[in-house]
Amino acid sequence: MQFIEWTQNMSVGIEEFDTHHRKLCSIINKLNDAVSGGKEDKIIREVLAELYNYTVYHFLAEEEAMERVEYPGYPLHRQEHLDLTLKTMELMRAAESSDIGGEVLDFLKNWLTHHILEVDKNYKEHFSSRSAG
Ligand SMILES: [Fe+2]
Ligand SMILES: [Fe+2]
Repeated sequence: MQFIEWTQNMSVGIEEFDTHHRKLCSIINKLNDAVSGGKEDKIIREVLAELYNYTVYHFLAEEEAMERVEYPGYPLHRQEHLDLTLKTMELMRAAESSDIGGEVLDFLKNWLTHHILEVDKNYKEHFSSRSAG
């Protein structure tokens, strides 16, 4: 079993974003494998950078889409994206001088799961009503 698994109940109803979320899960799994497999720091930092870059890419894509459909929850959603981006940046900085432990992986797993289930899923209905109209 994978460390974090995308399941159907995490679907936000937009194929593009479900694909992005699956990719984020797979990068976190890669990081978990690298950490638990005792890979060298350089590899671990590379995977963390990949996670950061993909997170920024995905957040921007969601933000553009939310603006396009005039989603009322956009400001708060964007704020959470900013917080998560900063937090991930901090982890990247911390990983330059110390090892990544299980608590960092748990944190990443929790933020992604929470964000998809409790923040992203809130736009599902708004998007589907806009595309139907
Ligand atoms: Fe998302
Ligand atoms: Fe989001």
